[in-house]
Parts: sequence; C-alpha cells; structure tokens
Amino acid sequence: MDNTTDQPHSSNKGHFKAKQDRGHVKHYILEKYLQAWLPKMSHGEYRLYQKILYVDGFAGTGEFEKSGEDGSPAVALKAVLGHSHGEKLVVDIHMIFIELNPKSAKALEEKLGKVQYDFRTPVKRKNKITWEVINGNFVEEMDRLLDNPEFIGAPIFLFADPFGYDGKIMPMRLLNQVLARPSSEVFLNVMDGSANRFFNIENREDAITQLVGSEKWIEAVRGEDLNPSDRILRFITVYKQNLNAEYKLHFGMRSKKNNRHMYNLVFGTNHPAGLEVMKRAMTNASQDIESLYFSEFLTSRVPQVDVTTKEYKIVCARNTLKRLWWEFSDTEEPLSGSAIANFILRETPYFFNFKRQLGKLLQSAVTIGSGKFDERSFRLSEITAAGLIQLEIQGLQLEEPVVSKKGRLSGPKKPNAKQKVGSLNFKKSSPTDIMKGSRGSRVKTPIKNQHSKASTSSEITPDMTLVKLWGQQKARQEQQTHVRNLSNEMHKQVNKVETITDDDSSSEDESVG
Ligand SMILES: C[S@@+](CC[C@H](N)C(=O)[O-])C[C@H]1O[C@@H](n2cnc3c(N)ncnc32)[C@H](O)[C@@H]1O
Repeated sequence: MDNTTDQPHSSNKGHFKAKQDRGHVKHYILEKYLQAWLPKMSHGEYRLYQKILYVDGFAGTGEFEKSGEDGSPAVALKAVLGHSHGEKLVVDIHMIFIELNPKSAKALEEKLGKVQYDFRTPVKRKNKITWEVINGNFVEEMDRLLDNPEFIGAPIFLFADPFGYDGKIMPMRLLNQVLARPSSEVFLNVMDGSANRFFNIENREDAITQLVGSEKWIEAVRGEDLNPSDRILRFITVYKQNLNAEYKLHFGMRSKKNNRHMYNLVFGTNHPAGLEVMKRAMTNASQDIESLYFSEFLTSRVPQVDVTTKEYKIVCARNTLKRLWWEFSDTEEPLSGSAIANFILRETPYFFNFKRQLGKLLQSAVTIGSGKFDERSFRLSEITAAGLIQLEIQGLQLEEPVVSKKGRLSGPKKPNAKQKVGSLNFKKSSPTDIMKGSRGSRVKTPIKNQHSKASTSSEITPDMTLVKLWGQQKARQEQQTHVRNLSNEMHKQVNKVETITDDDSSSEDESVG
C-alpha cells in the first residue's frame, strides 16, 4: 500500500529513535486509562457486549529504535495482557493496530509477537484477547471496520496519534461515526505547536476543515493580537465542540523553553465513568513532568500539598461551594445531591473525595433553604438558591480569600459585617474575569437545567486557587516558596482558604466565540 501522503510531516524520521517527555506522557495516560477501564468492562453495560475493539489508528513500529522503549501498541497490549484483573474480565477484547508504512507494520507485528510471548504463562481467563496488525490507511481501514458485520455493535476505544493534522488522514466525520457507536470513546493527539504555520496556508484550509469538521476554526485562529498558544487553544475549543461526545477533556503540553504548546491530547466519551477515569489519568500525568498541564481545568496539583489531608479537602469543599454558588445561586430550581456530584466531576478539577466536608457546608444551606439532607450519606434531596445565597453570606464571606497584588499570602480576614450579597469579591470578579486579568463583572448566562447537564466543557471555568498557582509559573521560584507557605498555612490553619493572586493568570482556557 502507498504510504506517501502530502500532509505536514507525515513521516517523521526521528520519531522512533527515543521517547521524549511527550511520548512518555501520552503513553502514561493511555496505560493508566486502560488499566482502570478494563475492570469496568466486567460490570454494567459492557457485559452486554461480546466483544470490545481497541484500535490504534496510527500504530508505528511498537518500539523506539534507540532506546528500545515501547510504542503505544506495546503499551496497550501489555496493559491488557498483564492486567491484574485478567481473570475477572468477561468481555472479549480484539486489538487492531493500523499502520500505513509496510516496514513499520512488519516491525510492529514482530514486537507484539514478543510481547505476547512474554505473557505466555497461562492466565485462567473468561475472555479472549486477540490482536492483529493491519498494514493500511487509517480512514480506509476504519470505514471497513465500521461496516464489518463481525464487529457490529462492538464498542470501540480508538487511540489515534498521527503525525500532522490533515482532515484526509483523520477526519472529524470518522471520529463522530466511532462515537455514535454504543459505549465508544476516542483518545486523540490533535495538534502540535507547529500548527500555527499551517493555519495561514491557504491551500490547507480544506484539509484542516475536514480535520475539525467545520469552518468555524478559521475565524477562531485569525486575530492579530493572538499569540500562537492562544490560537491553538481556540482551535482545540472548536475541535472539541465538533466532537460529538458528551464529555470531552483536553490535555495540553507546553515547551519548557518557551512555554508554547507542544501538543494536545483530546479525549471524548459519552460515559461519566470514562470521564472520571481519564480525568484521573490526566491529572496524575500533570504531576509528572513540569511542562505539562491538564488544560481543561488548568490544574497542576501542588506537590507539596498532601491532597489526602482533611485540610486540603476543606479547601476543595469551600472552593466547590463558591463554584456552586456562582453557577446556581440565581436559579429557581433546587439542586440535587447527584447534580452536585456531577458538577464536581464535570466542572471542577477535583475528584469527589471531600463529601463529608462539602456535606457539612451544604447541610446549613439546606437548613436555611428547604429540603432534607443526610450529611453522612450525602443524600441531599434538594438545595435551594436561597440556601446557597444565605450560605454565601454566612460562611463564605468569612473565608474570603485574602488577596494581595503581589500574590503574597496573608492571614485570615475578619468578616466584614457591612458586606452584603452582591458585594463580595468573588462575585465581582468571577474565575473567568480573573483569568482574563480583568476585574469587570460578568454577565451570568442562565442555566437552563442544572439537573441534567451543566455547561459544556468548553465553558469550564478553572478552579481559582489552582489557576492562580498556575499563573505564577513565570516566576516559578517565587511560586514554590508561596506554595510551601500555602502548604504550611493549610496545615496550621484549618478552615482558612488561602489564595495566591495572579492578575496575569492567562487566558489559556477561554472559550471561542
Ligand atoms: C506518531 S506515529 C505513531 C506513534 C505511535 N502511536 C506511538 O505512540 O508509539 C504515526 C504513525 O502513523 C503512520 N501513518 C501515517 N499516515 C498514516 C495513515 N494514513 N494511516 C495509518 N498510519 C499512518 C506513520 O507511518 C507513523 O508510523
């Protein structure tokens, strides 16, 4: 099969020499995701399927030439064959590795044969694990696979990691066909830093439009005052909008040298469990290498802070409450416990391991408003806007972050009896305003039905505390001292929220249009 394409750097000769940070993190996320995803296949809806397909659409050789490190197919096969829950898995898994270059496809077959041999010790399995390497073109092979009666109805996990960004190579319409199948997910390497060069080349417009699935990207990336990173983020926002998945996450990676975007991973799923697992994998990956950030929430967990402590959980609970207040306090409908849990998963950088702490705060809101609440089980029947607003007056004001222009931490602030609803700092400047560096007021868009879906992923406002910590990146040395202080403060002062100010917290997560 012809392996020549006219897309930018479709053959990157240096690629398979040795893994760079970017390779490590991509594979780390993939591995962690698969490890957590496989046991889920023994439960719930996955049991209904006889077979699940794992597809690596741009598989490569399976091994880095110089270092001998694993490429994505070997990482995935090892994760599946060596899974600790192997005996419990009930659904058959068929893994398909598509590679255009015949030599690479051959090398890959050999590599995966070796991997399989290494796992030859029989495991008493209920399910079958099979794999094949297809030497072919991703689009053609996927079209064939989607129509194959043998695989009808089988959920697909698609990992697609091409060189370059050309609609001919990875069109949006194909990804959405995959997502339209039940329980299917896509994990994509979408754009790297060199994309900016191609945005302006006229005869590439069609190719990029196919990649994104609409022409909306053209307007998004044009703008004289946009820097290259902003341009890519706007592009990714449009890309995510066109991906027909209910939940979408974006993991960005910056260059250590110039802080520019190196590449962008995008995940799409219709399954909250898939979202949670990927959110965890991406969050953990952002701890590993300094140049990475999980841009969906601009989260970088502060290494000095022990996230399992009660103090940290209290901070999470209070920050979440502010976010709830910001989103829901002007709506009429009461808010249920499951809607709150859903909100935390979808709209905040947190995992819900602070139920008790949040429960305590919300309990008073229910007492003030209406409804019933069992703090222990977090069974919250409903919470009203009145409750949230009162809580804000009573509780949050006391915990108002102490903000100083230089980003210094300072001690707790006494409550100001004169402050009324609407006059609190965090109401005047929302997380979005702070990100934009403005102190202006934001017009809140009414939330139509907070019980079903909160705002779309492109509207996510990152957590204030963490955004601010990120904003300090330019002065990292200084930040580390602050963070250490923050950690110490948190240990010393339970119940006090500390925030580091950064007026230049960047507009990285701004949505387009
Ligand atoms: C970035 S590399 C893949 C790296 C691999 N996913 C990993 O992480 O180890 C992209 C691969 O896609 C192959 N390729 C390029 N165009 C393709 C196409 N249209 N269909 C399938 N494979 C293609 C290239 O030969 C190359 O091996």
